[in-house]
Amino acid sequence: MPSYVIAGASRGIGLEFVKQLLAKGDVVIAIARTPEKSTGLQELKGEKNLHILQGDISKPEDMRACADATARITGGSVDVLINNAAYLGYENQYNAIDEFSSDAALLDSFTNNWNTNVLGVIFTTNVFLPLLAKGDLKKVLTLSSGLGDPVFSLNTEFDWCVAYSVAKCALEMVNVKYAAKYKKEGWTFLAISPGVVNTQLEPRACFPFGVFLFHLTVS
Ligand SMILES: NC(=O)c1ccc[n+]([C@@H]2O[C@H](COP(=O)([O-])OP(=O)(O)OC[C@H]3O[C@@H](n4cnc5c(N)ncnc54)[C@H](OP(=O)(O)O)[C@@H]3O)[C@@H](O)[C@H]2O)c1
Repeated sequence: MPSYVIAGASRGIGLEFVKQLLAKGDVVIAIARTPEKSTGLQELKGEKNLHILQGDISKPEDMRACADATARITGGSVDVLINNAAYLGYENQYNAIDEFSSDAALLDSFTNNWNTNVLGVIFTTNVFLPLLAKGDLKKVLTLSSGLGDPVFSLNTEFDWCVAYSVAKCALEMVNVKYAAKYKKEGWTFLAISPGVVNTQLEPRACFPFGVFLFHLTVS
């Protein structure tokens, strides 16, 4: 049975990956920042094929420790890495690029988005590459967003979610850079947008429109 590492597995789409893969009988390594606070993971604790690890993807030392722990669990290989974790800060979501309340707010928003949504994915992918190289499938699935697509923002005049959109756009290039290096060796790097999925545990005015976004980069 294939083995999957899911980074950002505490809730939302990441937790759903965990549930559905376990139901198929696959081996799942679920990485979460604070597993003890994840009611979803705590409910699944004890499942035969589930291994829960603590890790913040924006901390390279955490991701190295997760890769080492995974190697001990699986014997050194992993078949699929799913980069699901993302920073979705809401504090500057509704302002346009020239409407941040201060330079500090702009810096904060871009730093948080960059550290998790771009660098965090690189930290995670890099440390798991040696394990993936020993796996049978050599697949990396990265959750991007339709908001990272410049054509979408331009055509719809969507001028908010600034730092998140910029980071997800950069993430598309990150995916392409891995593919440029590894696709000739039979690896697959796939960046997808799941569309608009209501993953908020509490009601929140998140996306006040009903558009369904599709975006896919296959490399
Ligand atoms: N939902 C949508 O409509 C939508 C649309 C387009 C793209 N996406 C993308 O799909 C993915 C999942 O979205 P979602 O709606 O399920 O998000 P979500 O409900 O907000 O969950 C985000 C997940 O990422 C984790 N996370 C955040 N920062 C982390 C870090 N530094 N280290 C480790 N884990 C971290 C969170 O853990 P904590 O519990 O510790 O915070 C949580 O498990 C994201 O990449 C998102 O950008 C979602």
